[in-house]
Amino acid sequence: MNRLLAWFDERIPLSKTWDKHVGRYPAPKNFNIWYFFGSLALLVLVNQLLTGIWLTMHYNPSAEGAFASLEYIRRDVDYGWLLQYMHSTGASAFFIVIYLHMFRGLLYGSYQKPRELVWLFGMLIFLVLMAEAFMGYLLPWGQMSYWGAQVIISLFGAIPFVGDDITLWLRGDYVVSGATLNRFFALHVIALPLVLVVLVFLHIVALHEVGSNNPDGIEIKKHKDENGWPKDAIPFHPYYTVKDLMGVAVFLFIFAYVVFFMPEGGGFFLEPPNFQPADPLQTPEHIAPVWYFAPFYAILRAVPSKLFGVLAMFSAIACLFLLPWLDRCKVRSVRYRSTLHKLNLGQFALAFCILLFLGTQPATDLYTYLARLCGLMYFGYFLALLLYSGSERTKAVPERVTS
Ligand code: HEM
Repeated sequence: MNRLLAWFDERIPLSKTWDKHVGRYPAPKNFNIWYFFGSLALLVLVNQLLTGIWLTMHYNPSAEGAFASLEYIRRDVDYGWLLQYMHSTGASAFFIVIYLHMFRGLLYGSYQKPRELVWLFGMLIFLVLMAEAFMGYLLPWGQMSYWGAQVIISLFGAIPFVGDDITLWLRGDYVVSGATLNRFFALHVIALPLVLVVLVFLHIVALHEVGSNNPDGIEIKKHKDENGWPKDAIPFHPYYTVKDLMGVAVFLFIFAYVVFFMPEGGGFFLEPPNFQPADPLQTPEHIAPVWYFAPFYAILRAVPSKLFGVLAMFSAIACLFLLPWLDRCKVRSVRYRSTLHKLNLGQFALAFCILLFLGTQPATDLYTYLARLCGLMYFGYFLALLLYSGSERTKAVPERVTS
């Protein structure tokens, strides 16, 4: 084995890469459960790629055949039901994991210098992931697939002057049709997964260049031993490979429970109207996006003007991109930041969860007012952060990590 390894090492940097990124990657010794979600995101990505490849073998990307091919996969293909539910549940699991992964970044200031690029690559991943999920949702060609796509694509029509041309270009037709399905299929199975994989690679390369942050938000490179090894670090392997495996085990218990016993996730993961074939002549009573788009959809609906609604929705995502520059505090972790910051982050998380609920519900008067309030709370987080973070009264940050 050693000779075989040496043979490879003379030709490609196999051991060197393993050591740099796994075997001798200095990981802070105080990672907590919030640090499970990076490896879980990788796991779910692999699950989506693999189940997606096998689904593609049986799926028929045409307006005439798509819905029936899904029925066929569920009923007749060996273990097709498992493949399909692993993929559809996997999509929701992906967003649960990613939202928690992002929130960890907010808690511990992982987006701050020098990890701005890690954050930016992460945000690009988030954007591509949303596009990937949106296009994937059209493929079953159910009522909600069809009308959801119709609503979202028509939003681009609000752009002055070029809006109508853009919607036509996106759909490839005057309405959502087989042409739309074909292009979404191509993007969903080839183009976007490729981009995603490249971005995840860059995300991790950028992270390993500067090193991981930790729950104390301390730079562990400041204190090194005589061998140049950070005193507060342990090798990623075996310590965190084993720890992450525990996260994987817990995750798989929950994931398997949903896949086997409640793949529809109470109508949140698979919406009931999507079990009816797409009908361009019959609009469903209430068109709601899948839960992971709901917070942004609620912001869109809260604004009376379509154009400003679309702008507000995109700004909600743009603000996240700007976070490394909006937060000017020298202290990273929420543990040592002011009470004001803790409250601000708390109200932001609350507003996000309420918006998530509101986006899945019909827009009654009460819910619209509530969505406006939560939209203000959402944007208020960024504005307030910009205002107070420069002169924040923080607690003393310890020199070494606390366990
Ligand atoms: C497919 C999606 C993603 C994958 C596979 C992924 C993977 C990872 C992995 C393996 C790590 C190192 C382990 C950890 O710290 O948990 C990491 C760290 C990080 N990720 Fe992601 N990530 C993804 C999406 C995102 C997104 C959407 C964001 C935010 C916009 C993000 C922001 C970060 C940050 C800031 C870190 C450094 C955290 C720290 O050192 O404290 N990631 N990611």
